[in-house]
This record gives sequence, structure tokens and C-alpha cells, in this order.
Amino acid sequence: MSDSKVKLTVDGKELEYATIAGSVGPKVVDIRKLYAQTGMVTYDPGFTSTASCDSALTYIDGDQGVLLHRGYSIEELSEQSSFMEVAYLLLRGNLPNKGELDSFVHTITRHTMVHEQLSTFFRGFRRDAHPMAIMCGVVGALSAFYHDSTDITDPVQRMIASHRLIAKMPTLAAMAYKYSVGQPFVYPQNDLSYTGNFLRMTFSVPAEEYEVNPVIEKALDRIFILHADHEQNASTSTVRLAGSSGANPFACIAAGIACLWGPAHGGANEAALNMLREIGTPERIPAYIARAKNKDDPFRLMGFGHRVYKNYDPRATVMQKTVREVLTALNVSDPIFDVALQLEDMALHDDYFIEKKLFPNVDFYSGIILSAIGFPTDMFTVLFALARTVGWVAHWNEMISDPEQKIGRPRQLYTGPAPRAYLPVEKR
Ligand code: CMC
Repeated sequence: MSDSKVKLTVDGKELEYATIAGSVGPKVVDIRKLYAQTGMVTYDPGFTSTASCDSALTYIDGDQGVLLHRGYSIEELSEQSSFMEVAYLLLRGNLPNKGELDSFVHTITRHTMVHEQLSTFFRGFRRDAHPMAIMCGVVGALSAFYHDSTDITDPVQRMIASHRLIAKMPTLAAMAYKYSVGQPFVYPQNDLSYTGNFLRMTFSVPAEEYEVNPVIEKALDRIFILHADHEQNASTSTVRLAGSSGANPFACIAAGIACLWGPAHGGANEAALNMLREIGTPERIPAYIARAKNKDDPFRLMGFGHRVYKNYDPRATVMQKTVREVLTALNVSDPIFDVALQLEDMALHDDYFIEKKLFPNVDFYSGIILSAIGFPTDMFTVLFALARTVGWVAHWNEMISDPEQKIGRPRQLYTGPAPRAYLPVEKR
């Protein structure tokens, strides 16, 4: 809906651009004709003021600390629903009724196994390979196995590929873990929940019975909900950009995994726990806060700050509560949790963090829970990728089914040499 205009004067000529209002949130200025009309392009590195697409999946109000998926708040979803329900919601647009949910879970469950040949891929990696390196490779390799779901012009194939990706990520993630510890791969067991099945594939061994702990299952399922989607973040934008060229879905998700790995994005959960362990005791916190504030020191408080949230990340609130629940259920006390609480408290009372509106984000507390469950730190980002696959495929489907979809192709501000004559090598 267009309701007001933005005027721009270029070389004395006045141009008007329509604004478009979404259902909630800031309006956008529609500058699609800018280049054709003025020969100029906009400059916005990091896309801080650029909407790259329209989307009906997720809404964030960064000032208020609000996160909604298809209109439902993350607090309600994480408290009352399951990861499978949220996956359905993101993918299909509405919460499922009982029959729809059962059928969706059945479909996902029927796609959990991976082609047996894929296990040979794992054996090509060093045992000490980072599991995210393995995930980039094996998820990309899925396109070599599932040719019958790579025709992106067919909505049925798109949905099959989406189901396959959601279903197979836990299997591949567990295999990456098993490979790193030298234990046999564990096949999925389809009568377990999505999350229970993942826990079993990760932590069971053939020599013993394994029982899924319902408290851990619930906590991990909630962590998956908290990571399921986050509108146009770097990895989702990567998936969209890769997909905009018509690349197959498995290749696009592999691209998303590669982007997520970075410490400024999904890799922050691993980095945050490593940082908390390095700090170790509350007395050492002030020294690390001082380092984070020092412009000459590249150190940043990992798990703090966010491009969009200028308030407490609502996911961090749920995550902090979940840490308490998990530690109580497991009857363990982790001194690192106290370090985290005190670090948060000190930072939130420090002028630097107050002025820059830096608050804990989703990654600040998640590592403490994952570590208490038994995951090694290098698996943390893999779990993020597993959960975010839901958001990635939902965005990918939304983009491909948009009739206005075009290949993503940003422009640039060229700063290289102006045209110059080629000199033969002997004259240089
Ligand atoms: N510690 C210390 N200073 C910080 C931090 C931090 N964690 N984050 C931002 N700042 C400062 C930054 O130095 C800058 O200061 P100045 O204006 O004086 O140059 C100011 O705050 C704004 O930061 P920015 O880097 O321009 O902001 P951004 O929106 O480009 O970056 C961010 C956002 C998340 C990459 C950044 O806050 C950061 O590196 N945080 C640590 C890594 C992290 O926790 N990432 C997880 C993000 S949430 C989950 C996900 O996306 O995967």
C-alpha cells in the first residue's frame, strides 16, 4: 500500500518516490526506478537501511525487543508450541490443527534417513574437522543424491526438498558429531520426537539402551524454536541470494550454513562460551569489559549486541530461564552461569553498553545449556544451523514463489583505477 511520497532533488530536478507500508513496522521508500531516472544508485554497505525483499514470515521490532513469527510472539511460541509446530507455521503460514500437525510430523519423520552412500563422505574428513566444515560439505552434497527434488519451478518438488532438509539436518548433524568422537553412526528412530530422535542419534551407542530425558528434550526443542528464524539475517539473505540465481535448494542451504559459521553470526554461541570460560571467575570480568570498550583491542563481548535489537533480545530472556531449568533438572551448578549473569549485570550498568544499546543476544546463554546437555562447543553452531534450516527453507520457498522474484544483484561504488592503457610487460 502506498500512502505518502518521498521527494528527491537531483540536479535541480524533483523526483518523487512512493513509500510502501508493511502490516507493521517501518515504511520503505520504493527506489526501484532511481537508477533509470537519475543514473545514481544508493550506497548502504551492510544493508543497514535497505529492505532487500518483502516477507510475511517474521517481524522484529528491535527497539521494543519484539520478535513475531507469522504474528505470534516468540515468548508464546517457545512456551506453548513445539519446534515441529513452528516449522509448520513458518513454512505454511498458519499454526497447524491436530491432523495437519500429525501429518507434517509423519512426513518429516519419513525423511530422516540419509542415503547410505552419504556416510562415505564423512569418512573423507579428518576426525578433528570442525563439524560446520563437514556440514557445509555434506548438505551441499545432498543435491547429488536427491535429483527428484531439485526442479525449483515445481512447487511439489520444492516442498519435498524442504521436508528433506528439515528432516535430514538432525541426522547429518548427529553423524558429524559421531564421526568426530569415533563412534558408529546411529540410524534415526522414527517413533521418537524430532528433538528426541536427534538426542538419541547424538548420544546413544549401540552397546547400551538410551532413554531420552524429557526435560532435556523439551529444553532443546525450545532452543530450536528460538533459532528457527530471524527475518533477513546474514545467512537467510545468503540463502535468498544463492536461491535467486535458480540454484538448487540443497546448494542454497549449504551456502547459508557457510555464512552462519562466522563468529559475528551463528558462530557467536561457540565464541561466547569460550569467552565465558576464559573469563572463568567473576573477579576477571572488569578486565574483559575494559577490553571490549577499548577501540584498539579487537575483542568484543561475544553474545552481546545486535544489528536490529537495541533492547534486550527476547530470545535471550527465554534462554536465560531455560538455563536455570536445565541446570536444576540435571542437578548441576555451572560456575560459568554465575560469570554470565554477573557479566550481563555489569555490562548493563556500564555507560559504554548503555549508550550503544548493547544487550545480551540469543547466543549469550545458549552455550551454557548446550554444554550442560553434553554438546562440545564446536557443535553449537551446528545446532543453530539445524534449527535455522526451517527459516531458510521457508524464506527460500517464499522467494521462489514470488512472481516478482529476480536474481539478486547489488550495485557498487567503484573506487578502482579509471580507464588506462594496457602496457606490454617489457614496457612496465
Ligand atoms: N562488544 C563491544 N562493543 C560492541 C559489541 C560487543 N559485542 N557489539 C557492538 N559493539 C560496538 C561497536 O564497536 C560499535 O562501536 P562504535 O560505534 O564506537 O564503532 C557499536 O557498538 C556498533 O556496533 P557495530 O559493529 O557497528 O554493529 P553491527 O550492527 O554492525 O554489529 C554485531 C552487530 C552482532 C555483529 C555486533 O554487535 C557483534 O559483533 N557482537 C558480538 C558477536 C555476536 O554476539 N553475534 C551474534 C549476533 S545474534 C545471533 C546471530 O545473528 O547469529
